[in-house]
Amino acid sequence: MSASKISVAKKAINYIEKKLFKDMVIGIGTGSTVNFFIKELSSLKNHFKGAVSSSNASSELLKEIGVEVFNLNDVNEVSFYIDGADEVSPENFLIKGGGGAHTREKIVAAASKEFVCIVDESKLVKKLGAFPLPIEVIPESRSMVSRKIIAMGGLPEYRKGFLTDQGNQIIDVKNLSINEPEALEILINNIPGVVDNGLFAFNKPSIVLVGE
Ligand code: A5P
Repeated sequence: MSASKISVAKKAINYIEKKLFKDMVIGIGTGSTVNFFIKELSSLKNHFKGAVSSSNASSELLKEIGVEVFNLNDVNEVSFYIDGADEVSPENFLIKGGGGAHTREKIVAAASKEFVCIVDESKLVKKLGAFPLPIEVIPESRSMVSRKIIAMGGLPEYRKGFLTDQGNQIIDVKNLSINEPEALEILINNIPGVVDNGLFAFNKPSIVLVGE
């Protein structure tokens, strides 16, 4: 698994290397695959201006290798967003948020001109939904949101002892039929108290690189 993640991290470096320029800001996601990518990025750190990051953990790693980390509000344009995923459908729809960072990941993906998704083969699925769908919720709304999810046929489980970087909680939902990812993404996000769910139907990657 690690070998595959390292190989796709290298593929992503090859993909962006020639496109980097001095004033470019890139977007960096979260997770073990991205961690390998950040390591590889170290050799190119002087070829671009800096990065916006989707999590405190990735920000720390970027700073460790000497990449300047910007707040998204201070950046005009993000050229690439590089991030992993928990599931990738044949249409490039994603489930993300296994690490609980999907809200900021979706924000940076939406701000970027191109989303490059990096995964090992195990993430490729025919249909989304075997991986429980993470939903970030305002803590006070957790039980109410869970009841609405049960009414939709889902089986919610509170991710105990975990808080997002924004101080919110996560519900992981099994048993949803994800036949129409766009409709489901909207439906769940429309429940009061939901900050964002891990479906990436509207902010899907333009390219998915797969590790060997
Ligand atoms: C973080 O919340 C997730 O969206 C990650 O991008 C996703 O879980 C992929 O992580 P790995 O690269 O560790 O599998």
